[in-house]
Amino acid sequence: MFNEDYLRYKELVERHLTDFLPEIDQQSATLYDAMKYSLTSGGKRIRPVLLLAACEFCGCDINQALPYAAAVEYIHTYSLIHDDLPSMDDDEMRRGKPTNHMVFGEDMAILAGDGLLSSAFEAMMKDMLLYFDNPDRLKCRVRAAYEIAKGAGCKGMVAGQVADIESQGKHCAREYIEYIHLNKTAALIVSSVKAGAYLACGEQDRLKALASYGEAIGLGFQIADDLLDIYGDSAAMGKSTGKDDAHKKCTFPAIYGAEESRQRLTDLTNKAIELMEPFYDEGEFFVTIAKRLAERNK
Ligand code: IPE
Ligand code: IPE
Ligand code: MG
Ligand code: MG
Ligand code: MG
Repeated sequence: MFNEDYLRYKELVERHLTDFLPEIDQQSATLYDAMKYSLTSGGKRIRPVLLLAACEFCGCDINQALPYAAAVEYIHTYSLIHDDLPSMDDDEMRRGKPTNHMVFGEDMAILAGDGLLSSAFEAMMKDMLLYFDNPDRLKCRVRAAYEIAKGAGCKGMVAGQVADIESQGKHCAREYIEYIHLNKTAALIVSSVKAGAYLACGEQDRLKALASYGEAIGLGFQIADDLLDIYGDSAAMGKSTGKDDAHKKCTFPAIYGAEESRQRLTDLTNKAIELMEPFYDEGEFFVTIAKRLAERNK
């Protein structure tokens, strides 16, 4: 879907994705099966890929970032499982397969999400234990984990999901939609690139550029998702379409119309590109990703 570098990062993520799950005993086999079911069902892996790319961009060996890359994908996967629940978006298909609750039941799907969220923090903190004799590097890892916690939490993704639900069926002010999208989607994307930079103990100018880049592509990512919900091909995306309108969601196309939404996506993509162009060849991966995400069909 993207390019060679993307595939290199993605392949590394896939190979190590389940390495950081806790070992679970026989009594918890259902939990483990439910967690693994959603985690290994595919997905673009854009957040962990961005984390690894940011880490490399800031000069660090990406193998050291793997627990954090896995952690953001655990958090993202948990958010999808919960997002699909009957009490939320009530979806039956995800990543081309029946949603977690369709297979394991609603109770287990909630717990699989809880398990993935907890495992993310377990993976990162287990890694930190290895750096107690190196306070400088430990500090960078604590910063990275804190960034991920913030993006996932009550001033990030969870807050956005709350606003998304509360705005359903209501008249949505223009400023509010930005709040929803920035939190429910952009926050974890920003955290991913910032965490990658922190893990490398990267320079301030690179960190700042990455954070703004993450916000621009993150907002654009949800606009593209909202457009795909109307115009996309359900089979290609592996999830149902037309749900936002059915649930009267507060989306960009619902409020601004398709044309203005596409223009906003283009503007955000151009902004993201401009932020990374000053780094010439080193920023090229991020430029390409911004373009590809704007054109994506899944
Ligand atoms: C879907 O995320 C949820 C949104 C934030 C729009 P992705 O489009 O990254 O889903 P996967 O991981 O590729 O399945
Ligand atoms: C989900 O947004 C954002 C999350 C934090 C999971 P959507 O509800 O639009 O995502 P999809 O379309 O179900 O993937
Ligand atoms: Mg949703
Ligand atoms: Mg949804
Ligand atoms: Mg959607």
